[in-house]
Amino acid sequence: MSAALSLGHAASPRMLEDVPRLRYVVIPPRAQPDFRTAALEGLAEQQPSIPSRFLYDSVGSALFEAITLLHEYYLTRKERSILEAQAANIVAAVGRRIEIVEFGSGSAEKTRLLLGAALQNQKSLRFVPIDISQAALQSSAVSLLNEHPELDLVAIAAEYRDALQSLPVTSVPRLFLFLGSNIGNFPRLDAQSFLAGIADQMRSEDRLLVGIDLIKDPPIIEQAYNDPAGVTAAFNKNLLSRVNRELGGEFDLTGFSHHAPYCPESAKVEMRLVADCNQWVRIEGMKGSLRFKKGDYIHTEDSHKYSLDGFQKMSGDACLTMEGQWLDEDKWFALTLLRKI
Ligand code: AVI
Repeated sequence: MSAALSLGHAASPRMLEDVPRLRYVVIPPRAQPDFRTAALEGLAEQQPSIPSRFLYDSVGSALFEAITLLHEYYLTRKERSILEAQAANIVAAVGRRIEIVEFGSGSAEKTRLLLGAALQNQKSLRFVPIDISQAALQSSAVSLLNEHPELDLVAIAAEYRDALQSLPVTSVPRLFLFLGSNIGNFPRLDAQSFLAGIADQMRSEDRLLVGIDLIKDPPIIEQAYNDPAGVTAAFNKNLLSRVNRELGGEFDLTGFSHHAPYCPESAKVEMRLVADCNQWVRIEGMKGSLRFKKGDYIHTEDSHKYSLDGFQKMSGDACLTMEGQWLDEDKWFALTLLRKI
């Protein structure tokens, strides 16, 4: 491990240090600006925005978990259905004895299917969950260890790229996971360079499984991001609550509406907070006030959709080639297994 790593910088380090079969690694984020800097800069732009990574504080993470249970949000359900049917085949395509590394593990809910399938073939298994959210990592680590006495965990609280440089050394094939269409939240070029970064760390025997949301009939996609119960709206508006709570902002939450149009030309959903009327908003420490005319919006997230060909081309450009692909019965979602070229 490099000197940059530290053990047990978590909110409750003693508890984690005392957990057997768990190594907990924290790599403090380096380059990324904090919430105040990023939000104040983004809101002052001609097209105001707040980076999507700030959607996931504890309230936002709980709201996202609620989104994954919505019928309209088919992504989680479809991906789980593929894993339920194919976990054994996916694991078998990697090797008899493997190790699993997951980027953006969150609650590791669907990952349990792959862990279970691997444990059919081997007595013990090392799992390396990587997540920027220490809270999510800690709670999933403790519950996974309770569920599976055969697991050894190296939980890494870090940004993906930093974690990639600090993976535990191993002699067995690794299955890297990037599930849940998380790749869709990267701009396409960043997605390609992230894949290339993983490819760079992969050995010939390693594999990478990526979950992608496929291009489909636009109303199906739009409903997934505009649920009638308003859970996605609450998830989006939580960003304004965060500005009010943490930065001394004075956003009137009733003056903004959640919009998430899907643009078939760019194959992406753009999540926005649209001003319902002309208004001025003050934020502590900001010179002057922010002016919003009715219809102006704050951009909060992009969610890119892929065609099978488009994803294959992007993977090739990232020095990865396809070795297996599994789709749900409606062909709405795909899991693609890649190896390094
Ligand atoms: C985490 N990510 C894959 C979700 C998505 O579908 O882009 C985030 C989300 N945004 C609104 N609903 C869900």
